[in-house]
Amino acid sequence: TIYRASTTAPVNIAVIKYWGKRDAKLNLPTNSSLSVTLSQDDLRTHTTASCSSTFSGPDTLLLNGSPQDVSGARTQACFKALRGLRAELETANPSLPKLSTYPLRIVSSNNFPTAAGLASSASGFAALVRAIANLYELHSSPTALSQIARQGSGSACRSLFGGYVAWDQGSAADGSDSLAREVAPASHWPEMRALVLVVSAAKKGVSSTTGMQTTVATSALFRARAEDVVPKRMAEMERAIAERDFDAFARLTMRDSNNFHAVCLDTEPPIFYLNDVSRAAIRLVECINAAAGKAVAAYTFDAGPNAVIYFLEQNAGLVAGTFKTFLGHLDGWQTELGNKLAGQAG
Ligand code: DP6
Repeated sequence: TIYRASTTAPVNIAVIKYWGKRDAKLNLPTNSSLSVTLSQDDLRTHTTASCSSTFSGPDTLLLNGSPQDVSGARTQACFKALRGLRAELETANPSLPKLSTYPLRIVSSNNFPTAAGLASSASGFAALVRAIANLYELHSSPTALSQIARQGSGSACRSLFGGYVAWDQGSAADGSDSLAREVAPASHWPEMRALVLVVSAAKKGVSSTTGMQTTVATSALFRARAEDVVPKRMAEMERAIAERDFDAFARLTMRDSNNFHAVCLDTEPPIFYLNDVSRAAIRLVECINAAAGKAVAAYTFDAGPNAVIYFLEQNAGLVAGTFKTFLGHLDGWQTELGNKLAGQAG
């Protein structure tokens, strides 16, 4: 018998960024973060996990057709946690097949460029963890799975939920209170849209993991960001979402993106994620908002030059139209928000 389960997980784009670890092994952050989950129709990772007593050799993972190294500590931490939960079930119910002892075969594909700063590790680890949890019939809650996915990649814990998602940094040394939670479902603000502009699909220069470790070690601005700036913004952002206050949502989003990239520039050696096209996108949003007399569009950038622009459906013509006119040569997606996760065992 070959046991098999498939799932998909969405991409999330932070509006309050995670940048800095207080524990690099458990992936525990120095600040809380908040993200928006995008629709899986446009951006997602699809993953199938299978196992069998007839499989031999080590666990394997294929991503977009290429074999990946699974010996790294992060993937191993996820496999170990999931196998541990399955082994508990098998001990409690000895008639269950001993799936925890079988080699895993994982096949994963993204419908967007990997490592282009498009949060592929987030949807990737979220899908990996949920596919194996489904295979093992764990019936764990998204919160419980978020703890495991976080060890694969911090931002992955937020991709276990739809809509608006917070990752509370927590204070426990073992990470037991460093969890993702839903702030609001996508249906709370159905007019929200995201425009993803692929400025460059090339692999990013400095990985998030390396970049944030260097920032924590060298940046003088970093402490203010983690201790003062972000805690205040988390509360303001939750209020802006609760009240569907787009102007406040947009201003906080843009300021937090800029604060994060300022901290990157303040790192030694400096880290540059934005390029001239990214800066053109920032200017375009500033022009659109100045002409509207309030913020009707918000830009944000992760660890790469690609822009994500948030706006409301009623301003789609203005915002997406202006981008088409001025930066129409760029590839990308205009997408809605993702409400819930797709795909159970099958
Ligand atoms: C800029 O989650 O990729 O996208 O935990 O080391 O895997 P690791 O980092 P990762 O960092 C994401 C950084 C960010 C901001 C964010 O998504 O919050």
